[in-house]
Amino acid sequence: MDSYEQLLMNNKVWAESMTERDPDFFKRLTNVQQPEFLWIGCSDSRVPANEITGTLPGQIFVHRNIANMVVNIDVNLLSVLQYAVEVLKVKHVIVCGHYGCGGVAAALTNRSFGILDTWLRNIKDVYRLHKEEVDAMPTEQQRQDRMVELNVMEQVMDLSKTTIIQKSWKNRGGPHLHGWVYRLSDGVIKPVMEMNPGSELDPVHRYDIEE
Ligand code: CO
Repeated sequence: MDSYEQLLMNNKVWAESMTERDPDFFKRLTNVQQPEFLWIGCSDSRVPANEITGTLPGQIFVHRNIANMVVNIDVNLLSVLQYAVEVLKVKHVIVCGHYGCGGVAAALTNRSFGILDTWLRNIKDVYRLHKEEVDAMPTEQQRQDRMVELNVMEQVMDLSKTTIIQKSWKNRGGPHLHGWVYRLSDGVIKPVMEMNPGSELDPVHRYDIEE
């Protein structure tokens, strides 16, 4: 059997076991999704949103890219964000990075990866903002770990700089923004940042939002 055929076999077993446990499970999800969470995570295969949070289909709206970035000209991310915030009205947006992130590690080197350089440039900018703190770390490992945390925090702040979030904060007092970091070695998530609706922003990033 080819490896991809195994996936289809697994799927059959999974669908049957879900139905066995809860005969209406798929019926309930067919017509509506009401997730409370938007997850912005890394594409890394070791950090699957549902598994590590113990959630089921229907509970988390997910966007993943290399190094869990919130890039303000990324139409893909912005579309997901707008839909999640304005239509699904999620209560929480979570940016989840992870220690040992290859994207963050690559951005700290001088290696060129082709088109990927354009994406990783955004992480180099995070490094530039926090160069002093990161360079003061005694080991390369600690440098990378701190950069993973700082990158997550910057992405949360980048969410708050969008009109999508600012409009929603004004109109419905939500969502809450969270920055988390997942540890590959023990499977535990560490919260590193939280922004409540209406949080104070750097004046230059605050938009005049009409009611
Ligand atoms: Co990663």
